[in-house]
Amino acid sequence: MTSTLYERLGNAEGITAIVDNAVDRHAVNPLIGPRFSGRDLPRAKRMGALFFCMGAGGPQTYDGRDLRTAHAGMNISEQELVAAIDDFVAAMQAQGVGTTEVNEVVAILYSLKSEVLRV
Ligand code: HEM
Repeated sequence: MTSTLYERLGNAEGITAIVDNAVDRHAVNPLIGPRFSGRDLPRAKRMGALFFCMGAGGPQTYDGRDLRTAHAGMNISEQELVAAIDDFVAAMQAQGVGTTEVNEVVAILYSLKSEVLRV
């Protein structure tokens, strides 16, 4: 049987490590770091991991804000979205995630762009 993306990313443990690593990268990324200054980074990590786990097919229930509400008023640009996705790619590579899975995650994140851009 084909395993879910959740399983292939190492379940909650693997996904939590990826999200922690990616948010740490966001915070020092010159293109998007200022967006995260003064924000509750532990919450962003916790909510990001829950969102990711559920979206990848895990048993978790995401109970954070919907993406539009969470990013409302930020006027996020396409360049910033690409920068954030680049951080996820680097985080997954640092965790030894394979190319197939990296590509799947990139496609999923990109497909959410209308939920976060210029809302
Ligand atoms: C597909 C892309 C993205 C996804 C799936 C995503 C997902 C999330 C989630 C689940 C949260 C937590 C919501 C909550 O706390 O209730 C969050 C918060 C946040 N996101 Fe995103 N995000 C994306 C892109 C971006 C981009 C491109 C930026 C900025 C460059 C960004 C900046 C932020 C910030 C600053 C917060 C914290 C908001 C706060 O503390 O009020 N996000 N995001």
